[in-house]
Amino acid sequence: MKVIPEGKYVAYPKIDLPDRKWVNNSITKAPIWCSVDLRDGNQALITPMDLDKKLKLFKLLVKIGFKQIEVGFPSASKTEFNFLRKLIENNLIPDDVTVQVLVQAREHLINRTFEALQGAKRAIVHLYNSTSVAQRKIVFQKDKNEIIDLALYGVDLIKAHAEKIKHESEIILEYSPESFTGTELEFAKNICNAVIDRWEVNINRNIIINLPATVEMATPNIYADQIEWMSRNLHHREFVKISAHTHNDRGTAIAASELSLLAGADRIEGTLLGNGERTGNVDILTVALNLTTQGIESNLDFSDVNQVLEIVEYVTEIDTHVRHPYVGKLVYTAFSGSHQDAINKGLAYQQSKNDPFWEVPYLPIDPNDVGRSYEDIIRINSQSGKGGVAYILENRFGYELPKTMHPEIGKLVQAKSDQQEQELSANDILELFESNYINQSNKHILFVSFKRKQVETGVRCKLEFNYLNKNYVVTENGNGILNACKKAIATVYPNNFEIVSFHEHSRGGGGSEAQAVAYIQIQTDKFERIYGVGVDTDTTGASIKAIFSTLNRAFKDLYK
Ligand code: KIV
Ligand code: ZN
Repeated sequence: MKVIPEGKYVAYPKIDLPDRKWVNNSITKAPIWCSVDLRDGNQALITPMDLDKKLKLFKLLVKIGFKQIEVGFPSASKTEFNFLRKLIENNLIPDDVTVQVLVQAREHLINRTFEALQGAKRAIVHLYNSTSVAQRKIVFQKDKNEIIDLALYGVDLIKAHAEKIKHESEIILEYSPESFTGTELEFAKNICNAVIDRWEVNINRNIIINLPATVEMATPNIYADQIEWMSRNLHHREFVKISAHTHNDRGTAIAASELSLLAGADRIEGTLLGNGERTGNVDILTVALNLTTQGIESNLDFSDVNQVLEIVEYVTEIDTHVRHPYVGKLVYTAFSGSHQDAINKGLAYQQSKNDPFWEVPYLPIDPNDVGRSYEDIIRINSQSGKGGVAYILENRFGYELPKTMHPEIGKLVQAKSDQQEQELSANDILELFESNYINQSNKHILFVSFKRKQVETGVRCKLEFNYLNKNYVVTENGNGILNACKKAIATVYPNNFEIVSFHEHSRGGGGSEAQAVAYIQIQTDKFERIYGVGVDTDTTGASIKAIFSTLNRAFKDLYK
């Protein structure tokens, strides 16, 4: 094992906030959401989006319900400049949506940004400069005052531009001390307060202070402490919207964003499915649906996650993990038998009760609420149990197998899946069921036709069948049709059996196309119990066919 030199990595210091309040808070409402897919997300792509892709994504973001959308860094690239112009000139920005643009504190960049913004009714100009210890020391070689001066220089330029166009465009300032999580809190407070004061905030002139975990460096509780500390120490807090912007370097961006809401953040910046630099930005879809599952209106519409997935994958050229929360291909799927059984029971219970409270084990959200279906919930492999098989046959194909038949079909499916060493599809399961129970090959005894007549003692059945390639027509009376048929068969058939259970239902159509399905379980004199299934246009036909199916299954080894 490679030994990491001592002192190479050191623990992130604790925040001095002994009376922290966030630990006792709960999230009760949705934050203001800001999508940074078109900027932070885009800048992290191997192939940045072209104009068409940007437009497709912008339309999706609007459809989902984002009211603040960072559309790019227009002074940094021609494509981003042109994209913003296209949005403005073609009137593509809905009245209730505010576009946001990123810029550094440099005169020519700010001038160009305002050129790009010409004609916009409202815009957030997002000014940032790096404030962390490492950036000040290594990258900029500037002291703290010089860093503050740089930020204020940017504020002054933006203020002057905003003043000039105030009758056509409302300009909101957002300031980010970039690399906030690598910055001393005291210094972050000082620079943010200097910006707040210079912007001269008031009731009509708010500001967004965005506190980025540009690099996620500590556990999410630390970020929450930092947000609460800043929230307590910023000037004119009532006119300041605190924005959390988390990256996912330690894999806890979701948690950090959620804890930041407990700590007083008003706003969340992030991307769909978490695209972004390195390990990505926080995934807004997950944060929003986490709120949904707590009964909180998220104000974002994720009722069709498949569409989100399709568009995001198309524009980013990045595949989504099959286990990605809420959207992954396998997240509404159970492989293990006990999970399948519990889901099966939970879904039936949910349907049968009269209140909407979601109580299905293993499914934290109703797949229907995000445009996914129950169909793909249960998949079958050799780990699966009987419950999953029965669920598929019932919910996909309308066969309502009696409970005592579940172990029998479960074994057949398990054997097949072991043999194939792979998952079985729903159609594989249907095929296995029908070929074993309904359309059996190598039948030694075949049903041909029947006639029934009501008689005083019960039912008379004239049964025609074929046994070992010879046709028989036998008439017998019985107290019911099954009994009469059994007697008729027994006049020729040498193997003893008793009918021990019978179950039937109609399947499909509801009208003339509906079929009757009958399930009959017999016991042989070897004390084996075995099921057979019959399908016909009428119930009696289905029942008689089920007896023949059972015999062909129970005694097949005698006729090989
Ligand atoms: O991660 C970051 O720090 C950023 C800033 C520009 C806000 O994206
Ligand atoms: Zn970022």
